[in-house]
Amino acid sequence: MSTDDGTPAQRTRSWAEPFKIKMVEPLKMTTRAEREVAIREAGYNTFLLRSEDVYIDLLTDSGTNAMSDRQWAGMMLGDEAYAGSRNFYHLEAAVQELYGYRHLVPTHQGRGAEHILSKIMISPGDVVPGNMYFTTTRLHQELAGGTFVDVIIDEAHDPTNLHPFKGNVDLAKLQRVIEQHGADKIPYVCIATAVNMAGGQPISLANLREVRAMCDAHGIRIIHDATRVAENAFFIKEREPGCADMTIAEIVRAICDLTDGCTMSAKKDALVNIGGFLALNDDDLFDAARNMVVIYEGLHTYGGMAGRDMEAVSIGLHESVEYDHIRARVGQVAYLGRKLQDAGVPIVVPIGSHGVFLDARAFLPHLDQDTYPAQALAAEIYLDSGVRTMERGNVSSGRDPATGENRHPRLELVRITLPRRVYTQAHMDVTAESIVEVY
Ligand SMILES: Cc1ncc(COP(=O)(O)O)c(C=O)c1O
Repeated sequence: MSTDDGTPAQRTRSWAEPFKIKMVEPLKMTTRAEREVAIREAGYNTFLLRSEDVYIDLLTDSGTNAMSDRQWAGMMLGDEAYAGSRNFYHLEAAVQELYGYRHLVPTHQGRGAEHILSKIMISPGDVVPGNMYFTTTRLHQELAGGTFVDVIIDEAHDPTNLHPFKGNVDLAKLQRVIEQHGADKIPYVCIATAVNMAGGQPISLANLREVRAMCDAHGIRIIHDATRVAENAFFIKEREPGCADMTIAEIVRAICDLTDGCTMSAKKDALVNIGGFLALNDDDLFDAARNMVVIYEGLHTYGGMAGRDMEAVSIGLHESVEYDHIRARVGQVAYLGRKLQDAGVPIVVPIGSHGVFLDARAFLPHLDQDTYPAQALAAEIYLDSGVRTMERGNVSSGRDPATGENRHPRLELVRITLPRRVYTQAHMDVTAESIVEVY
């Protein structure tokens, strides 16, 4: 394994996958006629396709990762005790070492952690500011009686704006929310790293420090959606003044140290197929979460995960902060993005961490948003090549619970998401050719 140095000399050379392949899963090729039947039966919704009918599956990077031989070896060391599994203690140690949070509550995946967190922290009438919504996160906040308020910078809503940290919080917006509702109505500020719905855009350490200062002044906690924190850390190392010589692990730790806890979908950064957790610094909140997890997920030392899965997560967390891994991971996304840019295809810029996001409004300018252009485009790409992508626009955004009307998000996107360590550059070439053809 390489060292996590990312020295200037190392960074000027080409990246390559820092692994070799020792097991393969054959892919099924389909004909256009077969795909026409499949997508019609799926109601033109790529989520409803059978994966057997998909050639290259870029629906999501969630739980679709290839585990390493070390992780598979760890699976064999699963201690499937109901209580006190040794794998829980390995995971707890990994979270404490890498993220620095004091307490760990395992959950079956990220939304399990969001559910517990929302139940213990949000009261009806509360307001939760955040740097853009995520579907399950906001829904759990709403189910607990809270209202999400978006405080991300305006640049994040503009797919053509080249701001290097489009995940940043607009401090004036946050200040207004605090003044309008009062700090006692704000249980926490929700800070996502590598903001998914903005296109995998990072928040800077400098901005997070300012958010911390504002929250400290009002006694408000910060809860971190750490799902893609290592990917965010890579962009900080590349782009933020003064951070080039920090390791990915140091940057991850610096981010976490500015927050009071996290929800985590281990299915992304942590390179596994299932798992998640809630991590907290506060003893009383931890107590409440531990009491709650046993109702909804499982006893507090497994929380819905098998011992073997906790072992794979703890190893994956360590692998996620290896420089060569994260550079190749984000590099593969950039490779695909640049191919599309070179062909003039409208994508969200800067290219994000975990996928390339097509700007469906610019791609299909003749379609009204209420005819769901991103949904239509994802279906068309599947028809062309069997590549499966995902809508992130008017459908994902859901309807306003009060009016029942579409929310009409400013971003109407198709997400081409890359599983980690699964596909090769040749798959990226085939994907790019298909999208260019559709364009
Ligand atoms: C930013 C973010 N938060 C939370 C979640 C929810 O996690 P899970 O799918 O593991 O429940 C996801 C999953 O897609 C995500 O991308």
